[in-house]
Amino acid sequence: MHTDTRGHAITTSSKDAAENFNKATEMFLQRQIDVVPVLQQAIDADPDCSMTQATFGLMLHGARNASLKAGMESTLVKAQAASQGSTEREQQYVNALSCACEGNLFGAVNCFENILKDNPNDLLALTLAQGELFWLGEMQQSSRLSQSVATDWHETVQGFPEFLSVRAFDLEETGHFQQAEATGRQSVALRNTNIWGAHAVAHVLLMQGRHKDGLDWLSDKQGNWSQTNQMKFHIWWHQCLFHLERKEHDAVLEHYDRWVRNRNEDLVVAMPDLYIDMQNGASLLWRLELAGVNVGDRWHEMAELAEQRLNDMNSPFTSAHYAVILAATGQFELCDKLLEYMNSFAENGKHTLAARYADAAIPAAVGAIAHRNGNYKKTLDAMLPARHQFWQMGGSHAQQDLFHQILVDAAVKLNKRDIAATLLHEIEALGFNEPARNVAYEAAGKLVSG
Ligand SMILES: [Fe+2]
Repeated sequence: MHTDTRGHAITTSSKDAAENFNKATEMFLQRQIDVVPVLQQAIDADPDCSMTQATFGLMLHGARNASLKAGMESTLVKAQAASQGSTEREQQYVNALSCACEGNLFGAVNCFENILKDNPNDLLALTLAQGELFWLGEMQQSSRLSQSVATDWHETVQGFPEFLSVRAFDLEETGHFQQAEATGRQSVALRNTNIWGAHAVAHVLLMQGRHKDGLDWLSDKQGNWSQTNQMKFHIWWHQCLFHLERKEHDAVLEHYDRWVRNRNEDLVVAMPDLYIDMQNGASLLWRLELAGVNVGDRWHEMAELAEQRLNDMNSPFTSAHYAVILAATGQFELCDKLLEYMNSFAENGKHTLAARYADAAIPAAVGAIAHRNGNYKKTLDAMLPARHQFWQMGGSHAQQDLFHQILVDAAVKLNKRDIAATLLHEIEALGFNEPARNVAYEAAGKLVSG
């Protein structure tokens, strides 16, 4: 019997398996590259360790890619076969993978919650739970969970900086900005490569409209991410948002080409269509165009990738971004095809995400497509009744704001002053400080006050 970094049992007789599992887990928690090859070494050392198999399957699930479903299912079979004799905690990981394979995503979260009740320092379970809940839009639940274990965490527990970063992001997404900023800054002070903590602070600064502070915060940290996974591209997306608010469009385009969507970056070459990268790219190009910037042919490489994933229903937020991308390149027949797949999936109510497609992603996609077509009335018709449900697509307030921007712009184009005023109030209630001062809402602000 071996243990993980925080003392939880790993049922394996192989020292190599345990060591590589621990190494891979710490790399994952620190958002580093090359987790899977190290985890694979653990599996190779002991293919009958249920914990390594279940974790591998959950990593595949985390990529939210339909092409990995078969790999998840075959890994589940191996994890289940190996689970006899494993601990209750390890069996919960296998159960979580089983739920993920069935599309029962709250079931998976429930397994992580069960683990944390008895093992409050199980940072892997907490981090996986936050990832799952984040993409379900359920950040209140995520925050309750990290709060529930907070008293068990202190500086002497391995992974304390990473715990703080999880907590900071929960606090930020639930509107506790002051506490989130302090917690996030503490996590980075303890480990300067802590990108999730740096990211939580960047969110606070964006929500509060502190754009200069945001650039100051990120600019001297962007060199810290040489071992960081694709999260580093997302944090460059955040830097671009601060530049955008300051109308520094050349800087946005430069960082877009170098970091946000650089097809020559090794990580992007290996996985050009990772969901978060596609979201970053689409969201930034749309915002640039709204600001009057010519983005050239930058949409096309993403459109080619989106076309290959029309029937991938693993991420409502990503599907809605595909609609934005395909409409931007004028491929409205592909948009129709995408909507057909989304509707068909939504009608099959068994998967956790089905209702989220129905209530949020489909109206958002329809509205975005109509907006690109110049049919602003259709945008309002689709998005107005659904706007309070956009959170169900998952993603942060900052990311979801793209779809609020599309809706508000349609209201402005139609000169709908009352609607624009209502929407600005609602966006402020979501946590954005004085949204009319943000570049995307300047025209709405003028319409409302004019
Ligand atoms: Fe973010």
